[in-house]
Amino acid sequence: SVTRHYKFDIRLRNVTRLCHTKSIVTVNGKFPGPRVVAREGDRIVVKVVNHVPNNVSIHWHGVRQLRSGWADGPSYITQCPIQTGQSYVYNFTVVGQRGTLFWHAHFSWLRATLYGPLILLPRRNESYPFEKPYKEIPILFGEWWNADPEAVIAQALQTGAGPNVSDAYTFNGLPGPLYNCSKNDTLRLRVKPGKTYLLRLINAALNDELFFSIANHTLVTVEADASYVKPFESDILVLGPGQTSNVLLKTKPEYPNASFLMLARPYFTGIGTFDNTTVAGILEYKNPLPPQNIPTLKPSLPAINDTSSVANFTSKFRSLNTAKVPQTVDRRFFFTVGLGTNPCPENQTCQGPNNSSKFAASMNNLSFTLPSIALLEQHFFGQANNGIYTTDFPAMPLMPFNYTGTPPNNTRVSNGTKTVVVPFNTSVQLVLQDTNILGAESHPLHLHGYNFYVVGQGFGNFDPNTDPTKFNLIDPVERNTVGVPSGGWVAIRFLADNPGVWLMHCHFDVHLSWGLRMAWIVEDGKLPNQKLPPPPADLPKC
Ligand code: C2O
Repeated sequence: SVTRHYKFDIRLRNVTRLCHTKSIVTVNGKFPGPRVVAREGDRIVVKVVNHVPNNVSIHWHGVRQLRSGWADGPSYITQCPIQTGQSYVYNFTVVGQRGTLFWHAHFSWLRATLYGPLILLPRRNESYPFEKPYKEIPILFGEWWNADPEAVIAQALQTGAGPNVSDAYTFNGLPGPLYNCSKNDTLRLRVKPGKTYLLRLINAALNDELFFSIANHTLVTVEADASYVKPFESDILVLGPGQTSNVLLKTKPEYPNASFLMLARPYFTGIGTFDNTTVAGILEYKNPLPPQNIPTLKPSLPAINDTSSVANFTSKFRSLNTAKVPQTVDRRFFFTVGLGTNPCPENQTCQGPNNSSKFAASMNNLSFTLPSIALLEQHFFGQANNGIYTTDFPAMPLMPFNYTGTPPNNTRVSNGTKTVVVPFNTSVQLVLQDTNILGAESHPLHLHGYNFYVVGQGFGNFDPNTDPTKFNLIDPVERNTVGVPSGGWVAIRFLADNPGVWLMHCHFDVHLSWGLRMAWIVEDGKLPNQKLPPPPADLPKC
């Protein structure tokens, strides 16, 4: 294994999309950002230098960060943000992982423009457990905002209302021909017939789960969140923000008399407005004959709110090999996940829903407030008692109720910086239950520092007596981001073998900003190789 060095200069750059030019925050002037490539076992060292007025930090989404939590990146959780003119070196090793992940900014909504592929290849002497692809092509799903996303969320938080939405979705930064003034900004995949291509799909969008399909081509999913899965075919995929997948695309055996659109468009069951537009790219065969007037075929996508086709798709994921899923559980948790509101102060008129002061999003009725100093530093230096955070995040909601029926009145959200502390090597089971307080909505929940096994999921209220008997403890998929189904629940298990402070949150940035996040503190083990080492000397200060 080797060490791979990268330098990320965070710089402003003028970029034009949809006939709209604006200055955006980039890495090295690129949008989307540069590829980071390594093999399993390699060390990755990235020096990030901040040349922009915003604070910034970079997260290596899905990287386990075994005993390297100082390099994880979420602002105010594992580090203070990198301020203007400062730098920080992220230094970590890729342990036991290969596949497609991505990196993105983890401060406010900066990841709208600061994201790029993180490609983890197998060790040099190892091959893929599937046919060797002729070519590999990363496709990042993202958004284009005519407005400044930082201003959009700042205004939403101030008024308490829902934020404005993006103006387009993008493939590798390109909105494609279905938008006005965008024909030239189209992703074109030029392919040869009779070949197998590996598409590395990454949903880096801020706020939307996306359906994806290519006309007249079936895709074979072989990996999810950098874990191999039993290959399965489908015409339509769904990726939540934070989810990644490797899929095989087999091209037609002969030159077809057509080219083929690939489309992505949201899956959405929530309340309020969303960006209901479609990004298109073109799959075209490199026909050696002179160009001809051939038709462009279009795939059909499910209805915007087609929850059952999403459930059908997600039920197909299985670990390729027998999974190392914990067969016994030391600690059980049940977290409700959903939107709520903060009450409006008396005698005031508020702009939030139903005259509340603000939208809030919560787990177990708690909306998580970011601390002013990084939690990991506080924890590492034993300063739990200085009021920055508490360790009493509840294992159950404050008051049980029928989560998918009519909500009762007592669904208030309170604010705080609460964490759960678990000893090293605790076997954790967590059930995440969607609530219906402001309407059922799917939530892509992401856990830092771990992969977890998705042992069960279902609709309605989780039943602790019957549902666990149906858990898959043999070959459940291993992921870092899972959709809590709209009006349903999902159960995950993981072994807490990575000491540190690990954020868990909804990967919709709007819900993240509203507080749908919490932190797990995993204590050091007794042996030297079960402890988190001290922070690097250049760890940013708040
Ligand atoms: Cu991809 Cu906490 O993030």
